[in-house]
Parts: sequence; C-alpha cells; structure tokens
Amino acid sequence: MPQIGWYNGMIGNPAEMTVPMLDRAVYFGDGCYEACLAVGTNAFHLDAHIDRFRRSLNALSIPFSYGSDALKDVLYSCLAAANEPSAVLYWQVSRATAPRTHAFPKDAEPNLLVTVTPKTPLPRERTVKLITAEDVRYAMCDVKTLNLIPNILANQRAASAGADEAVFVRDGIVTEGSHTNVHILKNGTLLTHPADNRILAGVTRAVLLELAGESGIPAAERAFTEDELKCADEVLITSSTLGVRRAESIDGIATGGKAEALYRTLAQAYERIFDRETRA
Ligand code: PDD
Repeated sequence: MPQIGWYNGMIGNPAEMTVPMLDRAVYFGDGCYEACLAVGTNAFHLDAHIDRFRRSLNALSIPFSYGSDALKDVLYSCLAAANEPSAVLYWQVSRATAPRTHAFPKDAEPNLLVTVTPKTPLPRERTVKLITAEDVRYAMCDVKTLNLIPNILANQRAASAGADEAVFVRDGIVTEGSHTNVHILKNGTLLTHPADNRILAGVTRAVLLELAGESGIPAAERAFTEDELKCADEVLITSSTLGVRRAESIDGIATGGKAEALYRTLAQAYERIFDRETRA
C-alpha cells in the first residue's frame, strides 16, 4: 500500500485520502502518469520521466501549470516524507474536476496526485515467465495515459497462469509487455520494437540501447515477430520497476539461455548506473 499520498497540496495516508467524484480521472481516466524507482530521495532518471510526462500532457492537451522545478519540489517532498530505502514514485495529472461531458470543460484546473509506495526490488538474478497475448490496444500506446484496461487484463491473465508478464503481439509482431518493453538478443544483436505509436518509449529501454552502444553490442530498433521471440537467444524485458530481466519461459516453454553473457553485460551495466545515480 502507498505510504504517502499527495493530492492538490494535501499530504497524508493515501488509504484515508479521497479524490472528488468529479475528478475526470475517476470516470474517464482522463489523464496521464509516470512511475519511477527511488532510493531515499533519489529517483532514477527523473528528468527523463518528466520529459516523457510533458509529451503525454501535450498529446492530451492538458494545461498543467507546474514548471519542472515546482513538480520536482512536490515529488521530492513526498519522497522525503516517505524516506524509504526503495520505493515506487508515482504521479498522475487529470484534466480537471468537472461534471461529466466528453468535451474538455472550460477554465478547469488539472489535478496532481502523487504516491510513494515502498517496494522491495526483486533479486537481480530473478528471471521472469512470460505469456503472449493479443495486442488489442489502440493507436496511442506512446502516450502514458491512465487508460490501461487491456494492459491490466493481459497482466492478470499472466498472473493467473503463474507468469510475471504478458507480451503483446499485434498482427504477428511483438510490440511490448503489459507494463514493460520487450527485446531480444539474436546472433549477438539486440532487437527492440521502434519507438512509434504502438509502444511506450520506455526510459529503461532508452538506457538499455545506450548501454548496448557503450558495450559494443549492435542494436537495432526494428520490429520482430512472435516466431523470432520464441527462437531468440535471449528475451529481455525492461521497466523502471523491474530493471533489465531475462525471460526463462514463454507460454510455458523454456526460452533463452543461449546468450547469457551478453545479457549479463547489459544487466550489470544497468545495475551499475542505477546504483551510481541513486547513491545518497
Ligand atoms: N510501466 N510499456 C508500458 C506499457 C509500460 O507501462 C511501461 C512502464 C513500460 C516501461 O517503461 P519505463 O522503462 O519507462 O518504466 C513499457 C510502469 C512501470 C507502470 O505502469 O507501472
């Protein structure tokens, strides 16, 4: 459960705080969000998350008035109040509090909601089990909106199957996971879906591509098929909360294990920059 909640200037126990029924997040999911991992008051790659947040706000035409410094002040004050060794810092902005009409209400003020939730990171060696799921989402997957119904249904299917993550497949092409980006290693090359409107351009994905470059591992942003996924030397998933993880199975069939050294190079490079940046 989140330890700290913050809503439009009020701070407290999120289990006891309330949001107005007419917050458009409640009945439309009309807003966008970010989530990143923090160690104490150090949030990993916070600026990259704030940049992406701005892109989401622009895509939704939400006139959020906070500058980046004002937003960071709120986020850091929540992290300081929580003072957790490891936590997920989550924030969302909804368009307004207003009666339900589809068109945007006039002169309405966006609402900012923040939570800090303690999170014990999974052991770094922990591999993940994946299932595949049809990607039934829309054409705005690059925008981090609150509308996540296909994602939560797919992730629940994974959980019910004893797996960790569902990998979306659209017309035979692997797009991304329900809350992660998906990559493969094949013949020494890292492949990942292009950052177009079918995936969220993950902050961790961008770091992985950078680290591949620095480690001399060729990388290409090109779509790959479900067959390529299942025949890959290694399958990797990335997200702010999971870091860089190797898959051990897909749809119950063992996968990967053929390029462990390359995977380890990437995962350890990620852990190094995460630790360096979040050290007090
Ligand atoms: N999920 N794709 C989707 C659909 C996501 O929701 C996420 C992040 C990612 C990975 O992005 P990043 O590396 O920037 O975390 C890819 C977050 C963690 C969440 O919703 O909890």
